[in-house]
Order: sequence, then C-alpha cells, then structure tokens
Amino acid sequence: MANDEGVVQAVKDAADILEVVGEIVSLKKAGVNYKGLCPFHGEKTPSFTVNPARRSFHCFGCGEGGDALSFIMRYQGIGFWEALKQLAGRYHISLPERELSPRERQTASKRKELFAINQQAALCYHQLLFAENGAVARNYLEKRRIPLAVINDFQLGFAPESWDFLLKAMADVGEEGLSEAGLVVQRESGKGYYDRFRNRVLFPIISHSGKYLGFGGRILDNQEPKYLNSPETLVYTKGKTLFGLFQNKEAIRRSHRALIVEGNFDLLSLVAAGVRDVVAPLGTALTSQHIRALKGYAQEAVLLFDGDQAGIKAAMRAVPLFLSEKVAARVVILPDGHDPDTFVTEFGAAALEERLAAAYALPEFVVSHLVDKHGLDLEGKGRIVEELRPLIKAIDDQDLQRSLFVSHFSTKLGLSEEQLLGAVSPPLAVSAYQPVQTSATAAARHLKISYTMIEEQLLSFLIIYPEYVGQFVEEGLLEIITQPSAANIVKALQELHSKFPGCGAERLLDQLEGPERTFVSRQLISVPVLPDTEREAAEKIAWLRENRQKQRMRQLTARINEAQSKNDQELLFSLLLEKKKISERE
Ligand code: GTP
Ligand code: MN
Repeated sequence: MANDEGVVQAVKDAADILEVVGEIVSLKKAGVNYKGLCPFHGEKTPSFTVNPARRSFHCFGCGEGGDALSFIMRYQGIGFWEALKQLAGRYHISLPERELSPRERQTASKRKELFAINQQAALCYHQLLFAENGAVARNYLEKRRIPLAVINDFQLGFAPESWDFLLKAMADVGEEGLSEAGLVVQRESGKGYYDRFRNRVLFPIISHSGKYLGFGGRILDNQEPKYLNSPETLVYTKGKTLFGLFQNKEAIRRSHRALIVEGNFDLLSLVAAGVRDVVAPLGTALTSQHIRALKGYAQEAVLLFDGDQAGIKAAMRAVPLFLSEKVAARVVILPDGHDPDTFVTEFGAAALEERLAAAYALPEFVVSHLVDKHGLDLEGKGRIVEELRPLIKAIDDQDLQRSLFVSHFSTKLGLSEEQLLGAVSPPLAVSAYQPVQTSATAAARHLKISYTMIEEQLLSFLIIYPEYVGQFVEEGLLEIITQPSAANIVKALQELHSKFPGCGAERLLDQLEGPERTFVSRQLISVPVLPDTEREAAEKIAWLRENRQKQRMRQLTARINEAQSKNDQELLFSLLLEKKKISERE
C-alpha cells in the first residue's frame, strides 16, 4: 500500500489540473483562479473554478470539488484505478501492474481484447467491401451517393450473405471471443455459432477516443430488421455513444455546433455534402449521456427531425434533457416526406444551412407546435396539458428535469404549475421555482454546512496550511468546535499531517466526502495566499490560548459561585488560589 501511495502521489504531482480540466471545460483566467461552466451540473454563468497552484477545483454551484484525478473519475464516470491509469499514461509515469484488483484487471484486459476484436472485424468487413464479393454493397453505397472518401473515413464495411464469413475470417480469434464481442451468435441448439451481421453495410461504432465498440448494420435489401446493431457487450452500451462523434469531433469543435440526425445514412449524406458537424444517436432516443458527450465539443445542438409525429415526439422528449444539461438546442423540422438525407441530396447544403439558421429554439418549438395543433382557448389548453402530462410523468419526480419542464411550459402557456401538473402530483412544491438557479441552489442546500465564523476561519487556515494543525489542537482547537463534521476535518488534517508531513492540503480531499469535501475544496479555491503565514498562525494560536483561558476562568467562576453558595470554605479557598494563578499568568 505504501508503494501504491507513492505512485498515486507521483501521478497527481505530474498531472496539470489546468490541462486536464481545460480539455473539457473552457477556462478563463480570473485572478489566481480559472473559471468556466461546470461540467457536473447545468449552468449559464461560470461558477466552476480551478486553482492551479493548489491543484484543485471547486464548483460554487453544485459543490463538486477535487483534484485532477477525481475530476477524471467524476467526468468520465470511471473508477480510481482506471482514472489513475489514464493520467499516468498521459504524463508518462509507469504504474506497477498490481495496482488493479484481479477482477478489475481481468475486466480491463477483456475490454481491451474486445476493442481489438472489433477493430480487426472492422478491417475484415472494410476490406471485403472492396473485394470482388463486395460489389453488391459498393453498388448500394453508390446508389445512395456515398463517395469513396466518406466510405474510407467512416471505414464502412460489408457483411456478406453468409453464416460464417467472419467466423472463418477471424478463426484465429476463436468463437468465444467473437461471441463476447457480439459479432457471432450461438446457435439455439447450443452447438456452434453463426455471424450476427449478414447482407449488411456495416458502420463501425467508435468511441470519441478511438476505441472500437461495435457495429451498426443496414440491410441491403428490404428484409427486416432494417438496422441491426451490436448487442450490449462489455464495451458497447446503448444510449451512450454517438455515431460520427469520433470522425466529426474536430468539425464540431470548430463550429461550436452539433447537428443531431436520426439515421446513420442521414449522417453520411450530410458529411458527403460537406456538412461535417453532425452526429447520430444509433437508433435510441437521445439521452443525457449523449448530450454530455457533446458538451465538451459544442455549445449548441440542432436537432434535425422528420416532420412526422415521431419526430415531434422525439423533440418533446428531448426538451427536459437539454433544459437540465443547459445546452442550447434548436429544432429543424424538414418539409413533409424529407429526411436530412433526401433533403440535402435534393436541395444541397446551402439550403440546409438556411433552414438551420432559421431554426426554432427547442422548447419554443414544442410550445408553438402544440399551440398550432390545439389552439390556446380553454379547450386547447386542456388538450395541450393532456399531451404534456405523460411527458412530465415520464420524468422521475425527484428529478430536476421535471421541475424545469413544468416551470418552462407553465410560463409559456400561461398556466400555473399546479394546473399543468394537475393530477400528476399536486403537492409538488415547485410554485416558487426559478429555473436557472435551481440546480445550483438545490445542490448547495444539500451540501450546506453551518460552521461558526471562528470555526470556519480556523479550518480555512489549516486547510491551506496543515502544518499548524498540531499546534492548534494543542492550544485547544477541538474545544471550540461545535460541529462533528468540523471535527472530522481536523481529524483528517491531523492524520494527513502525521502521515505526510509537508504535503499539500489537496490530498485531504481523498479522505473526505460529502459536505466536508465540498467545504475543503471551496476553501482551497477561495482562500487567498497569505502574505505572512507565521504571523497569521501566531495570531490564531494566541486567540485559541486566550479563548481557552477565558473558558477556564468562566468555569472557575461558576465553581466559585457554587462553593460560595454551599459555603464550602476549603474548596472556595483553593479555587480562588487557582484563579489568582491563572490571572497572573495572563
Ligand atoms: P435509410 O435511409 O432508410 O437507409 O435509413 P436511415 O439511416 O435514414 O435510418 P432511419 O431514418 O430509417 O432510422 C433512423 C435510425 O434508427 C437508423 O439509423 C438506425 O440507427 C435506427 N433504426 C432504424 N430502423 C431500425 C431497426 O429496424 N432496428 C434498429 N435496431 N434500429 C433501427
Ligand atoms: Mn433515411
């Protein structure tokens, strides 16, 4: 363990928090700190703060805080060792293998294996597309006007009408590996396997960092299902990945905008037409994870939906997601009978850009659609509420998204929130609700610690200068502490200092969680560097001493009074003597 700690610290020391966070959050210098929009909760004004000297970050909105390592863990939703490995790789520090638990190591190596299998399969399928047997798929792609450059860029492939093309082509990998990757399926008899993808154009699904997660496949004729995707595997989870993000992320970064289309072919057509800032959610409804995946690259999403009922429903469902992620979203509904693919093919990229420029903001779009459909008279409003209610119901009532949705639409429709909620859940206390502030204040309320002013002052100082903790405690720090959580922080400081004398207080974050952690990360960010630490410490120590003295005097006085009232002359005499001694010392 001691060795592990050494390695962990080496990685943390090497990690540049500005660089690590700056990759995700666009940071602007503000004094000694840097500020940006918090990636952990939706916000429009930056309260997410990084202090490079103290190697830590803190969000004043949601209370999240930590160092480079915990930032990666939280942002990517990965475990300690996985994050450590990433950072170590990035800063060229070698980690001893045994850092992972045997189970984690097994999973990690299995995942690696599946990435490799998928990548090899992508190559097989891609090569087959250009082989003699691939003519049928090449013709299909030509018919759909997908140029060679796009085929290569997206590494499109062809799975032939065969039960064992891949089984044979990748015999070296073995059936079990192929099956774990979802590329082959076990026969019902239990004996043997067959290729999952047959007679399809294949789209490798690649993570934003370039790992091969799986495939989407479109049938070449009219058979069902039209699309077949990889099943859930150790490396592929539905609703997490956006098709095209890997290939288009630079274009998205440049334009600050991500177009979201429904179909894989819509995406390819737009790319072929030179519109590169586009992604597709691989057949699932849009999820928060999709939106978060875009957040690092784009400030705004534009949904390109078909004008039919399904498209409008999808737009409605996306509203609360975008509201709560605080990502601006607009909607383009294409003319009847068109999808992005046919539209751009028929009218060209310039016409598409015109529509994009004129796009409605998503919530306004939904309102105006519903108003168009039902009117705003009493009956119309009733119908609108009827349409919105199932959507509201679909959102968990603990969820912030729900209040955002309700607040937004009740304002737009001139209804009270109670009217909109109706039978859904009458007592929901959202009437005084203010959309923009909520995520921050709700979280802040949750994390609120009420220390006395002096408690807070002493703790803040010690968090920045933990080397004084021993002296402070000796002089009676613990006697003035009123909150158990403050005592926890002192205890953690003592432990930290005895284990690692001279280390920075950001290491404290590892020992704490919840409100205490929030408190510490906030202090790390907000307490300024003091010009004369020695003097500051001396003043505080003097205060503690004096406080203790006063406290003792108070207790003594109480006991003297008691002895007097009991007429215990002997005790009274000794107490008075003690009092005299204390005042002389002063
Ligand atoms: P075409 O233009 O007809 O080739 O397809 P498209 O790419 O425009 O797709 P479409 O608009 O029909 O559907 C949108 C997306 O939903 C597709 O890209 C798929 O990701 C997904 N999808 C469509 N049909 C199916 C299906 O039968 N099964 C699955 N799993 N997904 C489908
Ligand atoms: Mn289509």
